[in-house]
Amino acid sequence: MTLILGLETSCDETACAIVQDGRKLVAQSVKTQALIHQTFGGVIPEVAARHHLEAINEVIDDVLHQSKIDKKDLTAIACTNGPGFVGALLVGLSAAKAIAWSWSKPLIAVDHLFAHVCANYIDTTLEPPFLCLLVSGGHTQLVHFCDYQTATILGQTLDDAVGEAYDKVARMLGLGYPGGPAIDNLARGGNPDAFALPEGNVDQFDFSYSGLKTAVLRTIEKLEKNIDKNNNPDNLPLADLAASFQKAANQILVKKTLQAAKQLDLSTVVLAGGVAANSDLRKRFSELSEVKVFMPPLKYCTDNAVMVAACAHFMNTNAQMDISVYSRQKRKNR
Ligand code: KG4
Ligand code: ZN
Repeated sequence: MTLILGLETSCDETACAIVQDGRKLVAQSVKTQALIHQTFGGVIPEVAARHHLEAINEVIDDVLHQSKIDKKDLTAIACTNGPGFVGALLVGLSAAKAIAWSWSKPLIAVDHLFAHVCANYIDTTLEPPFLCLLVSGGHTQLVHFCDYQTATILGQTLDDAVGEAYDKVARMLGLGYPGGPAIDNLARGGNPDAFALPEGNVDQFDFSYSGLKTAVLRTIEKLEKNIDKNNNPDNLPLADLAASFQKAANQILVKKTLQAAKQLDLSTVVLAGGVAANSDLRKRFSELSEVKVFMPPLKYCTDNAVMVAACAHFMNTNAQMDISVYSRQKRKNR
């Protein structure tokens, strides 16, 4: 049996969790900075790092207290060391190193994207091989997991990540940060067929979201020109715009995932990353009959430490202290 304590500080959530055998949550604690960064319309890395520093001990203490687990019974300490904001990552990694050293535990560094995928192992019987659609604020990738440790990236975005497109379109529509959940909510009351927007179809299993983003901007400009001077410019059909954007953004994700699954003869498809919380995307995937679909519960879609602790269980790495952080994805294949 393994009992792993994981830490996550790559962006704007300070999180700690203990997970048993990579599948069962024992305890978790998350402190989100979303409200702090809302004022700036996005995450300010330096501000994020300072808040991680204030919150890291609190979330660790909280998890130890909730779980009532004696630290001597922990198998290892896990921590995200990239990709993410360097200052933010350093807070988590330094805390993990300090705990691992003082409690004489092995330290396991975990890739943030790999961890998102592992959120799907919690409370399920999911086993590789499978195809994963990884959709977050910084990445949009189709990844083939042939076993627990080996992943091959089949395709990825050539420009904006889909989560980034959600955030940027939300800003154009005057919605707050983070934009994804705001668009998701607004789109519920909108007509997805109100505006025909390009889905950005590029070669094979790659994606492109810059064209869709620009098309939304041009549509807004055109609508604003047509609004009579006496009318309130706030009368833009925001819900229809949100729903039409969401449809175009999500449709291509489902289409390419199915194409890749068919080409690789994979019968299991897994959703991961913050955008996996999108209700329309979840509905589209849950309606698929050609493949078996796994998606994490909403609470494990966005950044958390449960996925980090789970990931460390399934990794086959030698624990080491001599590790640092990295801001961008390290290599094409893991
Ligand atoms: O995985 P994540 O928490 O952080 C990164 O690793 O990037 O993903 C954050 C992204 C943001 O772009 C956010 O707008 C998006 O996930 N997101 C959503 C939803 N919830 C979060 N996008 C669409 N619909 C949602 N419900
Ligand atoms: Zn993430």
